[in-house]
Amino acid sequence: MDRISILGGSRLNGTIPISGAKNAALPLMLASLLTGDRLTLKNVPNLADVNLLARILRNHGVDLTIDGKRAGPAPHLGETFHLTARDIVDTTAPYEMVNRMRASFWVLGPLLARCGEARVSMPGGCAIGTRPVDLHLTGLKALGAHIDIDGGYVIAKAAKRLHGARIRFPKVSVGATHTVMMSAVLANGETVIENAAREPEVGDVAECLLKMGAKIEGVGSKTLRIQGRDRLEGTVHTVLPDRIETGTYAFAVAAAGGDVELKGARKALAETAFTALAATGVGVADTGDGVRVSRGDGELAPISIETEPFPGFPTDLQAQLMALMTKAKGSSVIRETIFENRFMHVQELVRLGADIQLQGDTATVRGVRKLRGAQVMATDLRASVSLVIAGLMAEGETVINRVYHLDRGFERLEQKLSHCGAAIARLASG
Ligand code: EPZ
Repeated sequence: MDRISILGGSRLNGTIPISGAKNAALPLMLASLLTGDRLTLKNVPNLADVNLLARILRNHGVDLTIDGKRAGPAPHLGETFHLTARDIVDTTAPYEMVNRMRASFWVLGPLLARCGEARVSMPGGCAIGTRPVDLHLTGLKALGAHIDIDGGYVIAKAAKRLHGARIRFPKVSVGATHTVMMSAVLANGETVIENAAREPEVGDVAECLLKMGAKIEGVGSKTLRIQGRDRLEGTVHTVLPDRIETGTYAFAVAAAGGDVELKGARKALAETAFTALAATGVGVADTGDGVRVSRGDGELAPISIETEPFPGFPTDLQAQLMALMTKAKGSSVIRETIFENRFMHVQELVRLGADIQLQGDTATVRGVRKLRGAQVMATDLRASVSLVIAGLMAEGETVINRVYHLDRGFERLEQKLSHCGAAIARLASG
């Protein structure tokens, strides 16, 4: 298994291109199941999760071709995917595929809406918490689906077409909002989703569905009103920039010091992260075509945050912020309110010399003067990248094991950082 080695202490200067958002690209690819026409997606990031979903979709019968390899002056503009689901040949998403990536469970809604049936393996537990799917299932039942659980599979059937319904989610869920929205666009009649997720990736999928002919009002708000259509058409859509990658590199620059333009980033998508960063004393400026982040020799001020659904501070940036705060001048308090077990990075940061106390859903981080490089290991994508950030600040060498987590969600991470001066390298296994 590959590892990543980082020698801490180098500043970051230059430009980092921001890729298309993983968490938009995945559900956008699923939207291809809703039409027999061609859906073209531009700016798709080249990531392990995207490639896995491509395999899953091909298994259902989606014809998928890829062009564009990012040559030329705009390397943040990713690949172009052409997806055509003319005939869905298989409505089963097997365990071997779904257990490797939770978002693949989201094939359930589009398959059911298009074919009237779907058999999808229940996702397993995962390192950041139990992550149930009850909200997806109650949403689909409200739309008229009959749901059975058998042999670890969710078996969903609709006797006729799904029908519109009023659904109020008791809790904000990105995935359940995708599931119900993508099912309701082909249902008979009106669906109203209350307490919908407002994450920009949900908005991006809604924008694409609108171009495919869907009728959706309230995009970007808590209430989505959807008029179902008999069929949707193909379209061309560009994946929005990755706000989590943006925030991650912004925190990396804050950690290492230096001056970097995050090219293609949209500041408004990560406003709470940039506000937090500015409060630590780091410079943040909108450049029109990206965001510039700079930090000189000054100390970092500690800050306290709680993770929240959008527009609050994202759980997907919690670990990265915590890494940064390990060297702030004073104590920070970080509360995780979305996932019950998203603190697996804490013990690894402590291995590097961080001072972090965990109590329930709250971590208190007392800034230390020095971190020292060590061997570390991470259990999920965002936790892994928090160790990269800590490694940039640590004295000596940090070696991160289980790099495959990083490859799931960060495109060309070592190249992007080393182009700006980081001493980072991949150590190939074997
Ligand atoms: C999405 O996961 C993201 N994944 C996650 O990013 C992200 O952390 C999360 O939203 C929160 O922003 C993708 O977009 C592919 P949820 P999702 O349903 O949709 C509970 C990353 O690192 N819940 O919004 O699975 C759930 O347990 C990943 O890129 C239920 O109780 O998250 C959690 O506490 C990790 N029942 C809360 O809701 C359900 O049926 C929010 O989860 C569904 C969720």
